[in-house]
Amino acid sequence: MSYNLLKGKKGIIFGALDENSIAWKTAERVHEEGGQFVLTNAPIAMRMGNIKDLAEKTGAEIIPADATNLEDLENLVEKAMEILGGKLDFVLHSIGMSVNVRKGNHYTNQNYDFTTKGWDVSAVSFHKTMQTLYQKDAMNEWGSIMALSYIAAQKVFPDYNDMADNKAYLESIARSFGYFFGKEKNVRVNTISQSPTPTTAGTGVKGFDGFIAYADKMSPLGNATGMDCANYIITLFSDLTKRVTLQNLYNDGGFSNMGVSQQVMEAFVKSQEE
Ligand SMILES: NC(=O)c1ccc[n+]([C@@H]2O[C@H](COP(=O)([O-])OP(=O)(O)OC[C@H]3O[C@@H](n4cnc5c(N)ncnc54)[C@H](O)[C@@H]3O)[C@@H](O)[C@H]2O)c1
Repeated sequence: MSYNLLKGKKGIIFGALDENSIAWKTAERVHEEGGQFVLTNAPIAMRMGNIKDLAEKTGAEIIPADATNLEDLENLVEKAMEILGGKLDFVLHSIGMSVNVRKGNHYTNQNYDFTTKGWDVSAVSFHKTMQTLYQKDAMNEWGSIMALSYIAAQKVFPDYNDMADNKAYLESIARSFGYFFGKEKNVRVNTISQSPTPTTAGTGVKGFDGFIAYADKMSPLGNATGMDCANYIITLFSDLTKRVTLQNLYNDGGFSNMGVSQQVMEAFVKSQEE
């Protein structure tokens, strides 16, 4: 169903790798709502995923960019404005990667080159993206910039490893840059803290199956899906949420405010009896 919420709006969507990606589902929904966009991802993701199918489906052009590389970002923002014929109304940063997680390093045994790389990709790239947009004056007034986070930024989830620290940093950047973007350009900046979602990045986390099942049983509304997240993002790109800014917004079926649920308690008691 389309509400035409994004008719006439233009933007950039980072991070669509395959049809499970949150960015992929968001691109499909933005397209349905009448928005136009450029798709971007790291050059290596062009070979791994199938972003070309998404581009065809949504009438979008693809501009490869490593989100940690300022030259790539400058080229991306300039080309996107050329292609779309003007300034941007929305930007989605849907990027995350921890080298320590990938290599199976425990949180207490990090390789700090990996830590730095993961921090750059997962958090600082959001600052770099916003700084490039800001300096090029690439955002229209009342535009909206979003990134994706996870509750491990606030509470301990041991297997989320150094991504927990990266997400805390990411959320802080959203507030700090959001102040200047709001004050100077009337642009809002927010993060969505999303339920565990079965994507390439999500399933890379150790014990993901347990994680996702536990969260589902803890949440009164169950886990938010990738499509639920895309739908939420659409509202935050629309003119209906003009003064929502500097927020970390939970899209998690209620998980973040739960202590324990009956279902989880019953499963625990049962396991104690066995
Ligand atoms: N899946 C979950 O459980 C979950 C939960 C909460 C938040 N998130 C966040 O959602 C966002 C999207 O992840 P996803 O779950 O859709 O997984 P995904 O694997 O589909 O997307 C991650 C994307 O990051 C891109 N990327 C990695 N390094 C990059 C770089 N240097 N430059 C540009 N792009 C780069 C990848 O190519 C990929 O497209 C991430 O920020 C992730 O941390 C995911």
